[in-house]
Amino acid sequence: MPQKLLFVCLGNICRSPAAEGLVRDLCPEVVTDSSGTGAWHVGEPPYGPRQAAARARGTDMSDLRARQFTRDDFDRFDLILVMDHGNRANVEALRPAGDTTEVRLFAEYAGQAGVTEVPDPYYTRDFDGCLDLLEEAAAGLKRAL
Ligand code: 4NP
Repeated sequence: MPQKLLFVCLGNICRSPAAEGLVRDLCPEVVTDSSGTGAWHVGEPPYGPRQAAARARGTDMSDLRARQFTRDDFDRFDLILVMDHGNRANVEALRPAGDTTEVRLFAEYAGQAGVTEVPDPYYTRDFDGCLDLLEEAAAGLKRAL
């Protein structure tokens, strides 16, 4: 059973910290972290509108700080959960030779036909729709663990 989960998106200020915040509340027995494949926001807390929408549903992610995904993350985590296919490609490009860590699309845990990606609310501005999908995926992940 995977115990160390890493959520990965592009900036690590919208989707992956929200996923981390939801799953750490739902599954306190597992270790959670998140990172972004880009470095633009390293050291920053989650994006303000992202935090506000989550806080309105009871999820506090104000303690989280953005960091960049690194090759070492393949050693440190049992399961890497990416938010879209671009994240997956960026992560796979850093996989060390011989590493077998599982990388999965987090949205697939929501079990919605044809849904494989979490749309980025930094661009869509649909912070609540994003949370709806993340909550369903978090519930599906909990069942799968
Ligand atoms: P995220 O959203 O990947 O869900 O954190 C983004 C936030 C900021 C940027 C890209 C994606 N950015 O390029 O600044």
